[in-house]
Amino acid sequence: MKLIVTPDTLQATATAAAIIAETLSAEPASVLGLATGRTMEGVYGHLVRAVQSRETSFSEMTSFNLDEYVGLSASDPHSYRHYMQEHLFDHVRPDPARVHVPCGAAADLDAECAAYEKAIADAGGIALQLLGIGNTGHIGFNEPPSLFDTRTRVVELDDETREQNASMFGGDADAVPSRAITMGVGTILDAGRLLLLATGRVKARIIADALEGPVSPQVSASAIRLHHDVTVILDEDAASNL
Ligand code: GLP
Repeated sequence: MKLIVTPDTLQATATAAAIIAETLSAEPASVLGLATGRTMEGVYGHLVRAVQSRETSFSEMTSFNLDEYVGLSASDPHSYRHYMQEHLFDHVRPDPARVHVPCGAAADLDAECAAYEKAIADAGGIALQLLGIGNTGHIGFNEPPSLFDTRTRVVELDDETREQNASMFGGDADAVPSRAITMGVGTILDAGRLLLLATGRVKARIIADALEGPVSPQVSASAIRLHHDVTVILDEDAASNL
C-alpha cells in the first residue's frame, strides 16, 4: 500500500485529482470507478479545472459510480446521480452512454444490481476505483458487516451513516433514505487499482481502524489491504491517529 499524507485538504484532493487525470492522459478510454460525498467535491473541482485548461479529457472514458440511494430518481436533487451531474459531468461532458450510476428508482432493484455488475464486466472491469470512507468504515455503502466477496446489492444504511449524511438532506437524518444500492466489497476489490481519499480529523479514528486494525468485515475499508495496488491519500488531520 502506498500512503501519501499531505499538509492540508486542498493538497490531498489535488493529489487524488492528479492521479485520475494522469490515468486519463495515459489511457483516455479508461474505465473509472467514481465516488460521492463531501470529500470528493474538491477532487471534482480540480478535475473540472483540468478539463477547462485542456490538461485532461473525460470524452472517451467510461465511469461507474459506487452507489445510489434507493427511492431517489436521477432528477432528485439529493440523488448521487444529481451530485455527479452538478460536481463533474455537467462540466466535463462525458459521453452520456458511458456514464453509469445505479438507478435507485428501479422497479426491480435486484435486476438493477445484476445489470450493474454485468455492465462493469462488459466494459472490461474498472481500472481505477476512487473511494471515500464513512464513519462506519464503509466503502461505497458497504455497512458492517460486509463480506469481502459481496457484489452490487441493496443494503440497509446504519443510523450513523444517515446522521453523517444528513447535512446533504437539510440536516434531517430521517430524510436520508434507509436503503441504498452499492457495489459490493468484492466488486471494489476487482478494480485494477484503488485510490482511497480521506480528509479531516473526523476521519482519523476510522482511518486508523481501517489501516491498522484487524482486516475484517466489521470495517469494510480494511479490505483494501488485501488489494495489490492501493494508494491512500490523507491530509494530516485524517492521518493523526496512525
Ligand atoms: C457516502 C458515500 C461513501 C463516501 C462517504 C463519505 O456515505 N456512500 O462512498 O465515502 O459518503 O462521505 P464524506 O466525504 O461526505 O465524508
